[in-house]
Amino acid sequence: MTREMGKADRMIELPQEFFDDPYPVYARLRAQGPVHEVRFPDGMRGWIVVDYEAVREVLRNPTVHKELNPALEVFKRAFLPQDRPKRTFTRVASHMLNTDPPNHTRLRKLVAPAFVPRRIEALEPRILAIAGELLDRIAEATGPVDLLTEYAFPLPITVICELVGMPVEDREQFREWSNLAIDNANSSKDEVQRAITGLEDYFDQLIERRRGEEPGEDLISALLAATEDGDRLSHDEMVSMLFLLLIAGHETTVNLIGNTVLALLTEPEKYRALHGNPDAVPGLLEETLRYDSPVNLATFRYTTEPITVAGTTIPADQLVFCALGSANRDERRFPGSEIFDPDRPQPNHVAFGYGIHFCLGAHLARLEGRIALTELVRRYPDLRLVEGAQLRWRESTIIRGLRELPVEFASAP
Ligand code: HEM
Repeated sequence: MTREMGKADRMIELPQEFFDDPYPVYARLRAQGPVHEVRFPDGMRGWIVVDYEAVREVLRNPTVHKELNPALEVFKRAFLPQDRPKRTFTRVASHMLNTDPPNHTRLRKLVAPAFVPRRIEALEPRILAIAGELLDRIAEATGPVDLLTEYAFPLPITVICELVGMPVEDREQFREWSNLAIDNANSSKDEVQRAITGLEDYFDQLIERRRGEEPGEDLISALLAATEDGDRLSHDEMVSMLFLLLIAGHETTVNLIGNTVLALLTEPEKYRALHGNPDAVPGLLEETLRYDSPVNLATFRYTTEPITVAGTTIPADQLVFCALGSANRDERRFPGSEIFDPDRPQPNHVAFGYGIHFCLGAHLARLEGRIALTELVRRYPDLRLVEGAQLRWRESTIIRGLRELPVEFASAP
């Protein structure tokens, strides 16, 4: 039977504490039903889908969209330079994650060869070396260290910059712009606009420079050369692709690493048990992906016609948030779902999404996570959380991750 839930008295308001710990809120919502109308603390409204099967139902529904999404309009008005919003919007946000077929199919096909397992596995020695260099630097610390700033963040960002072909000397500037653009709740509108324009102009120049050079092994060279049935990426599409890859490539994996280390250090014997047992790492990472999904709440979709999800009708022109973090705690799919249990059988979680937008970087994220954790435990078997440290979570409707992860070790290796 269809249930109509458009009435204000049925609307759920997500409390501010949601960001510290969304899971009790999700559990309450799941107990009441799979689909709810919702208002966020910042006033944004939409529908939230919280059950595993219902989330998958939305994500595979070809009548829900990414294009025509009014959340992108809000972004356009708020954060894009007002003298050239349209041009910047096309170049910043019209990438595959914001498009529907046939555009999506075409854009994904052109870049997918760079992310097949064989190409990603070839990066292993380089990722190992980057992890080693970062851990060497940590060894010089004399007191507590923020593991996110010193390790979990620079590792994936260095890998993705190298993969794309960004010169080493530009990385600090890129990192600054990228932080401002992503953590837009903590940056002023002007700062965000300047960062976005800075990135846009930088990518313009980088692509142009590459066009005039001998092709290298990097992704920009590959994209300049790639054709699919004679089709190529336009210059603006390439700018947009770089935005997506560089941001998706580091804002997520940092939290896979951070959330896993946190889960382990909360019960230190679990961390110590990993020493000499690297085979356990992949299972642990999968359990973090399920238990504390780095992309947690807002995988957006937009309805252009009414849809019925698990018996509830969502009207046309609505934002729909598929709460991956909640789907991954659904008892019916994951018995004992509130317990972090790396030994559980691993029925497919949806931490990397589902359907045509399934994460293109999943192999890379898993490889980076495996190397990051294995090397950390090998070098610092006695790592622990700084006693009494207050853990603060980012206030993001997309990302589930800590602001910092203060750790210390009894003795430097
Ligand atoms: C898409 C999660 C790492 C590139 C997605 C989606 C999710 C996700 C949930 C689908 C979003 C939606 O349907 O709206 C994650 C997580 C990661 C991670 C949890 C780390 C633990 C990466 C990395 C890259 C990457 C390292 C590499 C550059 C992409 C791209 C898409 C995507 C290009 C868009 C795919 C499409 O639209 O077809 N990711 N991601 N991701 N991810 Fe990731």
